[in-house]
Amino acid sequence: MTIARKNKTVIMMKIFFNHRMLFVLLFAGLLAGRAIAAPQTIKPGEVWPDDRGQHIQAHGGGILKLGDTYYWFGEDRGQTNARGLRCVSCYSSTNLVQWTFRNQVIQARSLEDFGRGWVLERPKVFYNAKTKKFVMYMHIDDPLPGQRGGYQLARVGVAVCDTVDGDYQYLKSFRPLGHESRDIGQFVDDDGTAYLIFEDRPFGFRIAKLSDDYLTVEKEICLIPEHMEGGAIVHYGNLYYAIGSALTGWSPNTNKFATATNLAGPWSEFKDIAPPETKTYGSQSTLLLKVVGDKTTSVIFMGDIWKPATQWDSRYLWMPVQIGDGKLWLPEPREWTLDIKTGEAVITATNSIAR
Ligand code: DGJ
Repeated sequence: MTIARKNKTVIMMKIFFNHRMLFVLLFAGLLAGRAIAAPQTIKPGEVWPDDRGQHIQAHGGGILKLGDTYYWFGEDRGQTNARGLRCVSCYSSTNLVQWTFRNQVIQARSLEDFGRGWVLERPKVFYNAKTKKFVMYMHIDDPLPGQRGGYQLARVGVAVCDTVDGDYQYLKSFRPLGHESRDIGQFVDDDGTAYLIFEDRPFGFRIAKLSDDYLTVEKEICLIPEHMEGGAIVHYGNLYYAIGSALTGWSPNTNKFATATNLAGPWSEFKDIAPPETKTYGSQSTLLLKVVGDKTTSVIFMGDIWKPATQWDSRYLWMPVQIGDGKLWLPEPREWTLDIKTGEAVITATNSIAR
């Protein structure tokens, strides 16, 4: 070894020795980074703990993506909620698997005079870039059948917030474009246009565009004359895929899908997304989430496995669907991993976790 090379080696060793803690921290940081970026496992139908170890309360939920962070909003039916409160919770995640509880963004005892036992279901949050407001839509109704009338208001409620996970301020409720609206779904197209999907009992499944400020429903895009709840839409390839369930209350049924090249239709006939005898593996659709990675694009079926007598324990059935060329199929639920960076969804377990 030449003297110059020997000196260089000695200097490098000194640097390493003097800053060894820094190197250890850097190495640990790299490992932690890899762990976060590595594919994470989703277990459909199982208890899904948040960062506090508590089962996620985001039933009938929706997702909003801001930068690299996903926000999951849904009905919080936690057992510790005070009696009579209607709650919506918000969670955040950068990998769609590990979720951090952010806030109970709605805690309402009464909004208007909707009656005792009033209903707040399926909250969905949109971000309006022009007004910089977060706008929440929710299904508002009067109490369940048997208590007083039951699900006759059939309205949407609107609440707003300046931050994604702050306390949302309730604004109003109304029937979109004058129509009955029970289950709602959200769809944001690739060009950023925001749509509300809603179930209009007498007529069917409606897709409507929100106003510029998102505070009202401005224009009907399509009425699909199918009686379906839990409506969701995804744009994949050059087709729109719409899914929904039949109207069987909390009991599962066979969810179906149709396709169209334009949101305004014409829509194809509706076909089953899973073997009918499985009743969508005991679940009901709430959203179709498109994950665009640097290698591929996956679409996740987000469904609820309702437990009407113990709603706090209702579970989630999230599975990547087989989609393309006008077909959509929900595979049998098994553990799977999602690589948020590449977009790859891989079913890893061989054993089915169907009910
Ligand atoms: C089915 C809907 O999808 C749910 O959100 C809820 O409204 C139940 N009906 C109530 O029976």
